[in-house]
Amino acid sequence: MDEETLKNAAREYQTPLYVYDGDLIVSRYREFAKAVASIGSKSRVFYAVKANSSLAILDLLRREGSSVDCVSGGEIACALKVGFKPHDILFTSNSKTREEIASAVSAGVNITCGNTEELDVVSEVCAEAGESARVSFRVNPDVDAKTHPKIATGLRDTKFGVHFEGDIAFNAYKRASELEGIDVVGLHAHIGSQITDASSFVESCEKLFEFALRLKNELGMQLEFIDVGGGVGIAYKKDDKPLSPEEYAKALEPAVKAGVESLGYEPTLYFEPGRYIVGPAGVLLCSVNSVKETPSKKFVNVDAGFNTLTRPAMYDAYHRATVLGKKGESETYDIAGNVCESGDILARDRALPKVVRDDIIIFHDAGAYGMSMASEYNMRALPAEVLVKDGVTHLIRERGTQEDLYRKQKTI
Ligand code: LLP
Repeated sequence: MDEETLKNAAREYQTPLYVYDGDLIVSRYREFAKAVASIGSKSRVFYAVKANSSLAILDLLRREGSSVDCVSGGEIACALKVGFKPHDILFTSNSKTREEIASAVSAGVNITCGNTEELDVVSEVCAEAGESARVSFRVNPDVDAKTHPKIATGLRDTKFGVHFEGDIAFNAYKRASELEGIDVVGLHAHIGSQITDASSFVESCEKLFEFALRLKNELGMQLEFIDVGGGVGIAYKKDDKPLSPEEYAKALEPAVKAGVESLGYEPTLYFEPGRYIVGPAGVLLCSVNSVKETPSKKFVNVDAGFNTLTRPAMYDAYHRATVLGKKGESETYDIAGNVCESGDILARDRALPKVVRDDIIIFHDAGAYGMSMASEYNMRALPAEVLVKDGVTHLIRERGTQEDLYRKQKTI
């Protein structure tokens, strides 16, 4: 997106403002889908809604032929609202309420169970409603994704999935195969996010195929799909070297080929990319309220905080920051958020051109886990979002209002 477009968007819709490049979202989706199709097995892409759940973006991806991975009843409702068909939706939370399960069953959404107790609830719900459910399990493959500990999900000690160890996973499948109303359709693992090392993906994929073989040999089970999850990383720093979808697909190919050969049948491969599709396609624009010099630092105070972009505070994440319409690196600043906490620093020690009040700071690569993690903490209304597509800037979410902050509340 060029600077003129960003400048106009900020002028028209104010800041803080998320701006997305719809053409880039589409091209990244296509690139990913093409790369995984080149592995040679049947494949499907389930965009991970949690990365960015804005309806206009979901709709854009639906029109591209994507399916979706959802983690809550709310995400499923958003997906259904924009027209995704229930059988194109996966429900993969680690902790689902009975109500969420009941509506997923009655809608006909695919359910990925994270434990056997959850399977029992699905089965009870099916019995009560006289329905059946398409079920798979998320397994815990005990694989190190070599990423930030808060977003590594495939390790033995994380809360996710049924473990191979102790036959927990095997017994879960065995039980599922015996229960009324349960159609066992797949096998899933997601080992983490922002992964840049192909070997972790390969290890997880190999373990999934090995386990599918055991299910076939010992339970006579033939799976419709093997879901290898999401996690492909992106470049946040200029020198980051993430895997391209082609490299990712090439790395998985031998494991898939060998797996399919030993299985003797070909399950469809499911992929759940989130960050890769939308991350680089979004920026957060915020305005400079003031610039302040302390004895040790220069701070740029902006009109956004960790309630707008949570990643720096939560994961010490780095988002490239630039100043709209300015070049050079003459000063070093910390960019401070407007939340009343010392931890609310959006960027540290950044070389920037001289910043003055009312400048606009661009945080790059904020399309994934930006708006979707935003909150109203400190009683600040949610930012607006715009989507630029084919040269036209569309407002896709109005800025929150102060009334939103108290609309659902009452005093006693
Ligand atoms: N599938 C499942 C089951 C997941 O839990 C996730 C992400 C994905 C797919 C998509 O992963 P991706 O392709 O986007 O890496 N808030 C954190 C990231 C949390 C990821 C949670 N799960 C962040 O801002 O880095």
